[in-house]
Amino acid sequence: MKEQKAHPTFSSRIGFILVTAGAAVGLGNVWGFTYVAGKNGGGGFVLVYLLTLVLIAAPVFMAELLLGRMGRASTPSGLKKLQVRAGSRLPWALPAWVGLVASVFVLSFYSVIAGQVVAYGFEALKGGFAGWTSAQVIALDADFKSSPLQPLFWSALFIFLAGAVVSLDVRSGLERTGKWLMPILLLMLVGLVGFAALKADFSAGFDFLFGFHDITLSTHILMEAVGQAFFTLSIGIGGIMLLGSYMGDNVHLPKASAWIILMDVSVALLAGLAIFPLLFSANMDPAVGPGLVFVTLPLVFADMTGGAVLAFVFFLLLAFAAFTSAISLLATPVARMEEGGISRKKAAVFLGAVSFILSIATTLSFSSWSNYYPLAFLGLHGMTFFDLIREGVNNIILPLGGLAFALMVGWGLKREDVRAALPIKNRALFTIWYAVLRYLVPVAITALFVTAIIGE
Ligand code: TRP
Repeated sequence: MKEQKAHPTFSSRIGFILVTAGAAVGLGNVWGFTYVAGKNGGGGFVLVYLLTLVLIAAPVFMAELLLGRMGRASTPSGLKKLQVRAGSRLPWALPAWVGLVASVFVLSFYSVIAGQVVAYGFEALKGGFAGWTSAQVIALDADFKSSPLQPLFWSALFIFLAGAVVSLDVRSGLERTGKWLMPILLLMLVGLVGFAALKADFSAGFDFLFGFHDITLSTHILMEAVGQAFFTLSIGIGGIMLLGSYMGDNVHLPKASAWIILMDVSVALLAGLAIFPLLFSANMDPAVGPGLVFVTLPLVFADMTGGAVLAFVFFLLLAFAAFTSAISLLATPVARMEEGGISRKKAAVFLGAVSFILSIATTLSFSSWSNYYPLAFLGLHGMTFFDLIREGVNNIILPLGGLAFALMVGWGLKREDVRAALPIKNRALFTIWYAVLRYLVPVAITALFVTAIIGE
């Protein structure tokens, strides 16, 4: 017989905020944001990104939290309940199931990048980077990726630790980890920005991020901005929904969302303000792509007095950010398996193992399969396994999932129910948010997909 346990909640408002901010703040804010902003020329892209974040991603973030709060179960079961309540015949649980699978895929590449972060942290701890030649830094990255063994070792370690936290109950695992790691992360980040302000070319970095630069708006840039905005807020695959289901009744959903989103944006912008000044004072190119934090930045550390300490703080910060996101990615499918009567521990071991096996594909994409394009026959030339997983999730699954959640809240559920569950007193704010979900989000996401398809 299956024992029906009550669905857990976090013990406090701050617990909820920190865990959810922890899920949002991750590799996407530091590794992702700086390389995408760097590649797309800084200022103009940052503006487009902030606009999509506020106008589209933030309202969807609130919708996803709300679905979690109203469903109070694992993501597919919560949505199924709401479908029944709405009297709809559409398969509401479907996007949640897709989301569970996607979570495991995201974790599979996330752990590989996070693994490299952890490995670099250890390198710095041994006194690495300081005084290195550029050949040494480039060789470190190349050697790391040349055979899959090293990346897989670190990726396995990372997944194992995430699994260990997730196998605990929600309060002693997720909540405690978020409460500890997030404040430390914020402190380290402020320290790094302070360092950049004092010792590096802060004004060049600031101008790069916030100054006005020419930007040619293309569908691709818009898609990157939307993809990045959805990824950074962790929306579209139910991760935020699950955390919403753990939110206590005393939490004011709109206010808590504002705090979380503010933290997420601040971390990305502060990371930019820590990284770009360092790059500019060393005359480095910001547009190098994904290698920005693994090659370019270590090159800067190599040239600085105290470089090893700085490198250590930086990679530790990044590891913490990645870790609090990874536990959220794993917790989402674990919650569904737990509902099916499987212990959290077994579920975490199983899903961690699947994700580890999938991470082999990402690892190989950086070494022996770097010229292997599995879907070339579909016209997807030049895309490795890693590219396919990352771009497929970011640019397709997240926006479609977000669209589905917006439609459920905007059109599926009753307006009064939605309003009561938020709850929100301010009529104008509610009306705007509700209209955004009903009209702006569906139109914007559809338009983006249509132009992307026609634009082929
Ligand atoms: N938001 C995290 C980051 O920026 C990544 C992440 C965690 C995520 N959970 C997610 C992305 C769920 C999409 C969906 O690094």
